[in-house]
Amino acid sequence: MKSFKELVAEFAEKFDTPHFPQQPASLYTPGDYFLTLGGKRIRPVMCLMGNELFGEIIPDAWQVATAVELFHNFTLIHDDIMDKAPLRRGLQTVHTKYGESTALLTGDVMLIVAYEYLNKINPAYLPKILQLFNRTAKEVCEGQQLDMDFEKRDDVLLDEYINMIQLKTSVLLAASLQMGSVLGGASEGNRNHLYEFGRNIGIAFQVQDDYLDAFGDPEKFGKDAGGDIRQNKKTFLLIHALEIASASQKAELYRLMKENPGDKVEKVLQIFRDCNVDEWAKALKQQYVDKAYHHLEAIAVVSARKKPLEELAAFLIERDY
Ligand code: IPE
Ligand code: IPE
Ligand code: MG
Ligand code: MG
Ligand code: MG
Repeated sequence: MKSFKELVAEFAEKFDTPHFPQQPASLYTPGDYFLTLGGKRIRPVMCLMGNELFGEIIPDAWQVATAVELFHNFTLIHDDIMDKAPLRRGLQTVHTKYGESTALLTGDVMLIVAYEYLNKINPAYLPKILQLFNRTAKEVCEGQQLDMDFEKRDDVLLDEYINMIQLKTSVLLAASLQMGSVLGGASEGNRNHLYEFGRNIGIAFQVQDDYLDAFGDPEKFGKDAGGDIRQNKKTFLLIHALEIASASQKAELYRLMKENPGDKVEKVLQIFRDCNVDEWAKALKQQYVDKAYHHLEAIAVVSARKKPLEELAAFLIERDY
């Protein structure tokens, strides 16, 4: 069995190959640019791990893993347009470098290439994999729309936030694991526990992403610091602060969201600090990690096989990039 780190290195090497034709370069160069910026490659590795939990990794798992990573990169290119984000993985986003219209098409064609990889797998597996992939892709769109709808609301509840991040982020992590487990020949019960492990870890992963967007080191994180605050994203940080802040702090938060002054990010961050969002973030993550582990334990394979998933879970929630 391979460790989480070994699988990341192996996938990164295999993935580092041309995925697009050469012409027109104006369409495909931006795609190459984005894919060579790197990224943690966690979703494809989760697909491989989902397979390896139940048996030797089969060649089809690499095709599905590649499709998943391409799909993820497509969502990021479009997400950066929606979020007006200038930076990703430490460099310019596709739409800031090549323009919005090209970024839309670069994402579109990347999604289609993802389906071409899926179409290479053994036809016996394809219906199940496609069904899961497509359901997940629709859920990601639903989550992304909710994320934007919430920008315009100031009464978003924590439950609504959790539902939104589950859709936009965690179902793809869960589905990556589950697709791997289908290829590994897992039973339905085991597949479902693995999905639930991924879904709960995925929620903790997005909580960490939202925390890092506010408090991370931009050099390491590679994204524009405070982008979520600037966009009035309804993250757990803001929801929690609005719940426990004093009346004057609340009024200040509403004013900052409405008026968008130049010092908005630093002012909001100070209120977040005053509201102890740090501790709250830890507790929220832990709540979902506990749920995730409960499902991991319920998977009927020897515990030694689960070690890479434990390494992965620890990395996802403690990461600083
Ligand atoms: C970023 O995902 C989008 C979220 C769902 C938080 P990653 O943090 O996995 O991005 P890369 O692929 O490693 O850059
Ligand atoms: C993005 O969430 C989720 C998807 C791309 C589907 P974010 O908007 O928080 O991701 P980042 O921070 O831009 O990577
Ligand atoms: Mg974004
Ligand atoms: Mg977004
Ligand atoms: Mg984010």
